[in-house]
Amino acid sequence: MKDGKRNSKCISVLISGRGSNMQAIHQRCLDGAIDATVSHVISNNPQAAGLRYAEQHGITTTVVDHRKYDDKTAFDRALADSIDEHQPSLVALAGFMRVLSAEFTDRYPGRLINIHPSLLPRHRGLNTHRKVLAGGDRWHGCSVHFVSPALDGGPLIARSIVPVLPDDTPDSLSDRVLQKEHMLYSKIISGCLDGDYSCRGHSVFYRDMPLRYPHTF
Ligand code: GRF
Repeated sequence: MKDGKRNSKCISVLISGRGSNMQAIHQRCLDGAIDATVSHVISNNPQAAGLRYAEQHGITTTVVDHRKYDDKTAFDRALADSIDEHQPSLVALAGFMRVLSAEFTDRYPGRLINIHPSLLPRHRGLNTHRKVLAGGDRWHGCSVHFVSPALDGGPLIARSIVPVLPDDTPDSLSDRVLQKEHMLYSKIISGCLDGDYSCRGHSVFYRDMPLRYPHTF
């Protein structure tokens, strides 16, 4: 492990592309803001740029290429097998572009989270920045949620809000939201690892009290 620190808590991060959220999580582990180690980065895309970053920082990487499996069930099982080899405390989806089955999500109750670039439940799925502009929204942001089989539909933990400015483009909005994503995801990952956030069924608890509304940062 090139970057030094060894913690008992390990995080597996699943990516499909650039991996800037994964990098932010890794940096917060290195500087101690998150008391854990990114021990494993998995991608369904062999070309994901984030894999190069992980390799350069001595993080174990695995490619589970969805195109090599006959169906979603076989892919999800291979993905889970790869995750389970490292026994992570938390599995963080960070720009992971596959919808996961109930068989998969049920395997990680309270341990599987995702970040999405919108104020969920508004604008699930892709192209959220375009949708915000097309809808004339005044506010935008990002959300962290426990993962369920429903696309971007799992129980909400927290969100960050940004204003939509008159001259915004999808790119300018994406940049502004991404900065918030990097801060929010690390904060919530830390809270999950500390046991502050938990999930039972479709309900989120904060320090064992039901969280009626997602926390806003
Ligand atoms: C982020 O906006 C994330 O919320 C979304 O996909 C993007 C991934 O960016 N799901 P990166 O790969 O973390 O840079």
